[in-house]
Amino acid sequence: MKNILVTGGAGFIGSNLVKHLLTKYPDYTIINFDSLTYAGNLSNLSEAITHKNYHFVKGDITNEIEVDAVFEKYSIDTVLHLAAESHVDRSISNPMEFIKTNIIGTVVLLNSARKHWQDKQFKGCLFYHISTDEVYGSLDDTGLFEETTPYNPRSPYAASKASSDHIVRAYHHTYGLPIVVSNCSNNYGPYQFPEKLIPLFIHNIKNSIPLPVYGQGNQTRDWLYVGDHCNAIDLLMHKGCIGDTYNIGGHNEWKNIDLIHHVCSIMDVKLNRIAGESAKLITYVKDRAGHDMRYAIDASKIKNELNWVPNYTFESAIELTIDWYLNNTAWIANIINKEYQNYYKQQYELR
Ligand code: NAD
Ligand code: TYD
Repeated sequence: MKNILVTGGAGFIGSNLVKHLLTKYPDYTIINFDSLTYAGNLSNLSEAITHKNYHFVKGDITNEIEVDAVFEKYSIDTVLHLAAESHVDRSISNPMEFIKTNIIGTVVLLNSARKHWQDKQFKGCLFYHISTDEVYGSLDDTGLFEETTPYNPRSPYAASKASSDHIVRAYHHTYGLPIVVSNCSNNYGPYQFPEKLIPLFIHNIKNSIPLPVYGQGNQTRDWLYVGDHCNAIDLLMHKGCIGDTYNIGGHNEWKNIDLIHHVCSIMDVKLNRIAGESAKLITYVKDRAGHDMRYAIDASKIKNELNWVPNYTFESAIELTIDWYLNNTAWIANIINKEYQNYYKQQYELR
């Protein structure tokens, strides 16, 4: 039995993870602590709310009083820390929010964990920080990010996550706080906010809206299905070596433009369009400032030590993802609110 605080549980990965844990571990108590920013959406969790061991607490990780209160009330012994500002483009236009949430918020959580777990000398406790491969910087055509690759973050988002990774490790070395850190590649799947590449492009193709490809679309990302990321987090929460870092990735590299053409061709079939019709929406726009060229993960540590490999093939999971967005238009309509529309207006004014 565990009392798990999932921060950011109303976001994309967090909501998938909460449902995964409730299904697999009905005896665990899951407390979803989320301030419900533009990216947090309680309708992601409609299957969870009736579960007797699920609790939602609306709270901000930068607020010490709110964080202390949740640790106290629910006797938290495990933290799965996902709450963050997560979109690189937003970090370019508004870095301060990323510093506040991703760095200060992480320190507030660490302090609370340390305070509440000190009496039992951290026994049975774990602070698990869910992070990104973007902390490592950008690769050329060859090579992979390993756990030992030096940090070289290049966007405000990546720098804020790198900073929080370092602080989490510092609490382990300095105070003995039991921690695990994982750095994962780009995720895709249901419930992802449609500002990220895959859900945005599915939405735009369906509605015949232009597809804004940054630069020439030559950048490469290593895509992992969110369900596989949740399996890896579950495994590391139970079997990860305390103090260690694990890379998580799908060995599934796609150049943006190739991925976009692939999604367009699946959508042509799903929408009964003539082959090539959706790709006509591709529009090359000004590149992202400081756009990282290539991310690719070496996930051999988690594979060799803990036997983790992705369960989903890209072919099946991208199809499943596209079907989910096509079948859940009400979810997207709910997301496309005033804030979202203003954000997009500003993005395109900037470009
Ligand atoms: P997301 O933007 O979809 O969700 C973030 C959640 O955090 C939202 O529910 C939001 O309301 C909440 N939140 C934001 N600020 C908060 C605050 N101050 N207090 C409490 N809650 C707050 O993000 P995601 O894509 O689900 O990513 C989750 C985590 O995984 C992040 O830490 C991210 O860095 C990491 N990650 C994401 C990816 C990816 O491809 N999406 C890959 C690797 C790692
Ligand atoms: P994104 O989903 O924002 O993830 P990240 O920046 O964390 O990798 O973007 C994935 C890739 O797609 C990235 O190289 C930027 C590119 N991109 C576009 O070309 N157009 C878009 O509208 C978006 C959102 C992203």
